[in-house]
Amino acid sequence: MQIIRELQELRNLVRRWRENNRRIALVPTMGALHAGHMALIAEAKQRADRVIVSIFVNPTQFGPNEDLAGYPRREAEDAAMLEAAGIEVLWAPSVEVMYPEGFATSISVKGVGEVLDGAARPGHFDGVATVVAKLFGQALPDLALFGEKDFQQLAVIRRMVADLNMRVGIVGVPTERDADGLALSSRNAYLTAEERVAARVLPDSLNEAAAAITAGQPVAGVLDAAKAKLAAAGFDPIDYVVLCDAATLKPTEVATGALRLLAAARLGRARLIDNIEVNAPA
Ligand code: PAJ
Repeated sequence: MQIIRELQELRNLVRRWRENNRRIALVPTMGALHAGHMALIAEAKQRADRVIVSIFVNPTQFGPNEDLAGYPRREAEDAAMLEAAGIEVLWAPSVEVMYPEGFATSISVKGVGEVLDGAARPGHFDGVATVVAKLFGQALPDLALFGEKDFQQLAVIRRMVADLNMRVGIVGVPTERDADGLALSSRNAYLTAEERVAARVLPDSLNEAAAAITAGQPVAGVLDAAKAKLAAAGFDPIDYVVLCDAATLKPTEVATGALRLLAAARLGRARLIDNIEVNAPA
């Protein structure tokens, strides 16, 4: 596998592929790869002739008091996993290559980028949208794959691509989970053994709440019960547990149409997020 760190080298490769009419998929990541990332990569291989995986721990999407310095960095292990998965190219630019002296542009997605994690983590989705737009400009992919694990991120990127007429197809991939239901995440590494046991209450409470909403129980009471269950398991603070329109992520207490239940809460050092589809009551 080739590890590319200079933009010109990536551009030369992509130009050759495009001249040969290869369909190119991009899988953007921040590394510390796990089975969730690998599910995106497997799907990318199905859908494209060539797959570029990027690893870049993007400083502009971390808040001043967030975990940028401590974010897991394991490039050698990541490269070995990608090699074993048959990936030919790892795009791993430095911060200086991504944000050269004088960099001054930011993409800000209103609405869907401002609610939930957009409110809890000011500037986060501006950083995500800007770096993803740059990755698209660098790798010129025909399609790019993102996990439903970060459901709001996926919605923000879909909005950006539509609004800016970007010529890239966005593919959402279902969340990979551990045996007990916890969504795989690089940040799960922050949990102690005891917290890891308690963490399953997050997917459990979302599943219970979704079933209750589908059964026709009043939404506000269901969400309160889910929050109480998380608090009892040691989650603190609970940033949100909210039922939303699946496309706009506008909160709703009226359970009709395409719905998504989303939650974010801290457990020890880890801020965990999760979400599931909710079927409207019959
Ligand atoms: P990162 O957290 O490394 O995630 C990279 C991709 O893997 C994202 O699309 C994310 O949704 C997906 N992913 C993570 N855990 C998953 C799981 N359990 N199941 C399925 N997919 C999962 O998300 C980012 O990086 C960054 O914000 C990025 C898009 C790379 C921009 O910097």
